[in-house]
Amino acid sequence: FGDQVLQGKKVVVSAGPTYEDIDPVRFIGNRSSGRMGFAVAQAAAYAGAQVTLVAGPVGLATPAGVAKRVDVRSAAQMHAAVVEATDGADIYIGAAAVGDYRPSAMATHKLKKQAGADLTLQLAENPDILASLSAGRDHPFLVGFAAETQNVESYARDKLQRKGLDMIAANQVGDGMGFETADNAITLYWADGSAELPRADKSVIARQLIERIASRYKAVRG
Ligand code: PMT
Repeated sequence: FGDQVLQGKKVVVSAGPTYEDIDPVRFIGNRSSGRMGFAVAQAAAYAGAQVTLVAGPVGLATPAGVAKRVDVRSAAQMHAAVVEATDGADIYIGAAAVGDYRPSAMATHKLKKQAGADLTLQLAENPDILASLSAGRDHPFLVGFAAETQNVESYARDKLQRKGLDMIAANQVGDGMGFETADNAITLYWADGSAELPRADKSVIARQLIERIASRYKAVRG
């Protein structure tokens, strides 16, 4: 890693879950701990990049070498923070588990239980951060993650194409890997290739990922 493969590059990494508030005390969230994204931010900083880390609600310290951290809660806040941070950036790596939906309206007071009755929660679709970046002009090199429990390759390749990405890191979740855990295993896909990053600690996976991203970035962006 002494060769500083991302020297001088501006890299933005998103990490962690998003929380979509239902009322002042309840929210819809997911099991992302932020570990994978924080490890990626640290590896990018070690590789010489100027890193901005956009973090959902997680209990993690900012990794050494990360230039800037922006804390957010909801998908809408993460979207706004990523759009701002990626202005002029070279690479965006979306490791966050962004909520696809939010409650259509947030109640201003705690919802009261109606004993004996079911409750229906209406949801509205959140913006897709990666897709909105790829739709813009002069966008950064885009790397997504795909968390799948089955058909990993076909779902990942579909997301690569549909979201207009340069690369996608697919992790099979479950079996003690992916969300919350210390280890991960990834298959990385790009238009005309793929690479396996076998099960290892997320810090090891993150360093391998950054090396692969740097070499693909150089191949397509020079
Ligand atoms: O945080 P950890 O506990 O360490 O767990 C790591 C992880 C499993 C969360 C991480 O490795 C991972 O896979 N992150 C992406 C999880 C996910 O939400 O995948 P997805 O298939 O729903 O989304 C695909 C891609 O689109 C992701 O890059 C995501 O950031 C992006 N996305 C999704 C929805 C949305 N509205 N906007 C987005 O940009």
